[in-house]
Amino acid sequence: MNAPAEALQLPKLGLGCSPIDPGGEARDLAPVIDRALDLGYALFDTAELYGTEAAIGASLARRPGARSSVVVVSKVWSTHHRPHLVESACERSLRQLGLTELDLMLIHTPQAWRPRDQPPHLLSIEAMQRHARYGEDGGRFVPDDVPLQETWGALERLRDRGLVRGIGVSNFAAAHLRTVLTTGGPPSVHQIAHSPMAPQTDVAALCATHGVTLMAHSPLAAPGLLTQPAVETIAAARGWAPAQVVLRWNIERGVIPLPGTRCHHHLAQNLQTLQMRLTEHERATLTALSGASLSPPAPAPAQ
Ligand SMILES: NC(=O)c1ccc[n+]([C@@H]2O[C@H](COP(=O)([O-])OP(=O)(O)OC[C@H]3O[C@@H](n4cnc5c(N)ncnc54)[C@H](OP(=O)(O)O)[C@@H]3O)[C@@H](O)[C@H]2O)c1
Repeated sequence: MNAPAEALQLPKLGLGCSPIDPGGEARDLAPVIDRALDLGYALFDTAELYGTEAAIGASLARRPGARSSVVVVSKVWSTHHRPHLVESACERSLRQLGLTELDLMLIHTPQAWRPRDQPPHLLSIEAMQRHARYGEDGGRFVPDDVPLQETWGALERLRDRGLVRGIGVSNFAAAHLRTVLTTGGPPSVHQIAHSPMAPQTDVAALCATHGVTLMAHSPLAAPGLLTQPAVETIAAARGWAPAQVVLRWNIERGVIPLPGTRCHHHLAQNLQTLQMRLTEHERATLTALSGASLSPPAPAPAQ
C-alpha cells in the first residue's frame, strides 16, 4: 500500500531545485539550498535530471539532525522507465543525495524514451539534460515501448525494499493517471504545472477523488501570471508580493507549490506565504482567472 501524503507529513510549500530558471539561465543552487535550510524550508524538489541532488545532500550533511525534518523528492527521468533502470536510477539518486531513503520518488513524465542506437542504459546527467532539452535530438532518441504499469511496479518494489517512503507521478494526463490507478496506486502525489491560469481541473478532480496530493511545479512561471490585474490588485491591497498571492492560492487549494528562486529575498518571501491568508472573495477572484486568455498558459516543459 502506498503511503498517503498525510503519512509522509508533507510541508505546505517546498523549494524547487531545478538548476535552470525559466529564462534558461543555469544557477548554482548550493547557496540557495543552504539558505533555505536555515530559513526553515522543509521540502526540496529535485530529480536525477537536475544534477542538484549532490548539492542538497551536501547541504544536509553539513547540518546534523536536519535530515529527519526535511522531505526530499526526486524523480526518475523518461529514459529510465525500464524496471531495472528505475532501480539503478533510484540507487544513483540516493548515492548523490548521501541518503539511505528518499521520501518520495516520482515518474518524471509518462513518456518513455531510449537511445536509438544503443541498448537502454543509465544515462549521465549531461546526457539526460541534453535529451530533456532537445527531445529526439536529431533521431538520437526514440520512444521506448515500456508500459506505465511496469515502471509503476518498479517504483512499488523500491518502496517495498525501503528505498523510498512514497511514490508518485508527474506531468500525467488523466488517462495516464487512470492507468496507474488501475494498476495498484494510488500515487501519494502528482506533480503538475498548476496556477490560477492553468489549474488542470480534470486532473485535479481525479486526484481529489483518489486522495492524491497535488504539487504545483512552476507555480510562478506561467507567462503574464504575476502581472495579471487581479493578482496585482490583491497584492497591492494586502501589501504582499504578487508571487505570494499566487503561492497562497495554491496552498489554500491544498496544492503544494514548489517555487524556484536564486534570490535570497524571494526565498524568504515565498516561505512567508505559510503565514498568510486570502479572503474567500480573493480566492474566488483568482480561481476565476482560469478562463483568462491574456497569456495562454503554455504547458511548462518537463524539467
Ligand atoms: N515535474 C516537472 O516536470 C517540473 C517541471 C518544471 C519545474 N519543476 C519543479 O518546479 C520548480 C519551480 O519551477 P520553475 O523554477 O521552472 O518555475 P517557478 O518557480 O514558477 O518560477 C521561477 C521564477 O520565479 C521567480 N521568482 C521566485 N520567487 C519569486 C518571488 N517571490 N517574486 C518574483 N519572482 C519570483 C524566479 O526568479 P528569481 O530567481 O529572481 O527569484 C524565477 O525566475 C523547479 O525547480 C522544479 O523543482 C518540475
